[in-house]
Amino acid sequence: MKIFTTGSEGQLGWELLRQGERFDFEVIGADLPETDITDSSQLENILADLQPSLVVNAAAYTNVDGAETEEMLAFAVNRDGPANLAKVCADAGIPLIHISTDFVFDGKKTTPYVEADTVSPLGIYARSKAAGEDAVRSRVKEHLIMRTAWLYGVHGHNFVKTMLRIGKERDVVRVVADQYGSPTFAADLAEAVLTMAAQVRDGSEIGWGTYHYCGSGVTTWHGFAEAIFEVAGQYPPRKTTRAEPITTAEYPTAAKRPMYSALDCALIQKNFRITPKPWQERLKFMIEQILSGR
Ligand SMILES: NC(=O)c1ccc[n+]([C@@H]2O[C@H](COP(=O)([O-])OP(=O)(O)OC[C@H]3O[C@@H](n4cnc5c(N)ncnc54)[C@H](OP(=O)(O)O)[C@@H]3O)[C@@H](O)[C@H]2O)c1
Repeated sequence: MKIFTTGSEGQLGWELLRQGERFDFEVIGADLPETDITDSSQLENILADLQPSLVVNAAAYTNVDGAETEEMLAFAVNRDGPANLAKVCADAGIPLIHISTDFVFDGKKTTPYVEADTVSPLGIYARSKAAGEDAVRSRVKEHLIMRTAWLYGVHGHNFVKTMLRIGKERDVVRVVADQYGSPTFAADLAEAVLTMAAQVRDGSEIGWGTYHYCGSGVTTWHGFAEAIFEVAGQYPPRKTTRAEPITTAEYPTAAKRPMYSALDCALIQKNFRITPKPWQERLKFMIEQILSGR
């Protein structure tokens, strides 16, 4: 079965391409500058040419702070792009798997968010992603929206790689210790997306709609950084770096972020038998892959 994925140069898209064969899929990827999801006629042509059986939208404008000054671009990519994809999928009669974010929530809860919780995005990136969800829901019935969180992969830019780089240069790094969430390994998210796609292909009964998927367990950015330095410290000649806890107020950013955005993943386990993996184990695996040069 042929899958078309956008954002194939991103953290998730790259993993989808890498893992497709394992699931017996032919995954065809596209990204900027050749393919722009804000260009609907380009998408129509691609779908007519490729005739995929399913589309994954892994493309997004993901610069959370940058969106505060690039609102038009953020909405073009995160709302209008998914709207275009949803329309071409609906016209072609094929399902769309779209990726969204924990940031659609405002973080006022103290227990993990379930799919039915009311969204209340705080910043422009978050608002554009919430609008993207609505655009998909209203255009293509056969959709799966996967909200994920704190994504990091071996390919692309992310918090883990930033900490590994900074950790080489500094003895102490100040990291926010009052925002809570769940780090998610991009390879695991790709596996979850492809598992859902495989169930679509195999004719399983699909509960179309919105799902949460992230690493299991909850931490803070500070806890995440400490875990990164602990694993990295096992690879000499790396020196020991310490993460110093600070508050959100001590680290002002352009965009407001939810203080708590853990996601409850019970529904995806129930409907698709997809079980999230402990974030610490997956972090260790990722860092080992990077630092041992595998
Ligand atoms: N990263 C996180 O921590 C996080 C957390 C929660 C949810 N998510 C969601 O997870 C999904 C995947 O995130 P990711 O981290 O893999 O993103 P990523 O690494 O930033 O990759 C996104 C890709 O989309 C491309 N893109 C941007 N605008 C485009 C356009 N107009 N047309 C086609 N492609 C375009 C980007 O190209 P350029 O690099 O050239 O812009 C990039 O290659 C996104 O929906 C994101 O919102 C991410």
